[in-house]
Amino acid sequence: MNKNVLIAGGTGFVGKAISKLLTEKGYNVALLSRTKSDKKNTYFWDYQTGIIEPESIEFADIIINLAGENISGKRWSKKQKQKIVESRVLTTNLLFEQTKKSIKKPICYISASAVGYYGNTNSDKIFIEEDKPGNDFLANTVYEWEKSADNFKTINIRTVKLRLGVVLSEKEGALPKMIIPVKLGIGSPIGSGKQFMPWIEINDLARMFLFVIENENLNSVYNAVSPQQINNRDFMKSLAKELKKPFFFPKIPSFIMKLFFGEMSQILLTGNKISSEKIQKEGFVFNCNDVNYVLKNSKFIR
Ligand SMILES: NC(=O)c1ccc[n+]([C@@H]2O[C@H](COP(=O)([O-])OP(=O)(O)OC[C@H]3O[C@@H](n4cnc5c(N)ncnc54)[C@H](OP(=O)(O)O)[C@@H]3O)[C@@H](O)[C@H]2O)c1
Repeated sequence: MNKNVLIAGGTGFVGKAISKLLTEKGYNVALLSRTKSDKKNTYFWDYQTGIIEPESIEFADIIINLAGENISGKRWSKKQKQKIVESRVLTTNLLFEQTKKSIKKPICYISASAVGYYGNTNSDKIFIEEDKPGNDFLANTVYEWEKSADNFKTINIRTVKLRLGVVLSEKEGALPKMIIPVKLGIGSPIGSGKQFMPWIEINDLARMFLFVIENENLNSVYNAVSPQQINNRDFMKSLAKELKKPFFFPKIPSFIMKLFFGEMSQILLTGNKISSEKIQKEGFVFNCNDVNYVLKNSKFIR
């Protein structure tokens, strides 16, 4: 019988790609959203009031949790930081509490996580899953997020966390925004330009979620990043080359980024080398391990 997958936060960029792939593969997909809908396959929840439709958990053989306030949507005020953390930790807690109560429980819980876990070191080290978390706002957020996901292990549910790098797609996410200055002919490295940009192509990421569902021995945390390590300067240079635009503008100084974006500028100014060997050793094969391939295939570039 086809398995049922509930995707919390599945209305977003990553969720849409996973839903499409799983549906094509014959899974029954339902979404858990803060917006009420008459659609048969959408359930409602609201972590702030603790409401979740119990039928959502009863439906699920597998839960994928992608829910969370966008980290680059607004400046990181105290209130916004609280929202970034709570929209991940309290949503996970709500899913967990409802799962505990539910007579029919899922067999697998898969949580999105992020490579922000390792902190903003800008060192030359290649980080692996067993490394310690960093000690900045994002690292602490991801640490708490993963800790809440681990509660599912206490009720014997297979639990997998995928630490995502920047997800690249031709249509949505960070790439269309990064292209704007380059298109205007003013593309340049950000800050030192030496910071690494762990990335994964959207279709590879959707395939990785499917891989986790179908490989029932997986029960751990995995970095979801392409094997290619690229720094900000080389990435921006590739974009300019692909768009046939100049790339001679001076670097955008870090202090300008900090002035405009405040603490949130860390997302653009720092980045580590991250290993994806662990998931590859389990048998996952990346289709896209060259950022130029993503760029070449991006419809909005042409
Ligand atoms: N995209 C990336 O490059 C990237 C990189 C690293 C990690 N991640 C993580 O992967 C997950 C999915 O990413 P995405 O790009 O698909 O994100 P997205 O497009 O922003 O979608 C996330 C979904 O979460 C729900 N959501 C948004 N704000 C929320 C809030 N305040 N409280 C509760 N739910 C909220 C929304 O669903 P409803 O409105 O239907 O409730 C939304 O569709 C996120 O947690 C993100 O942090 C993404």
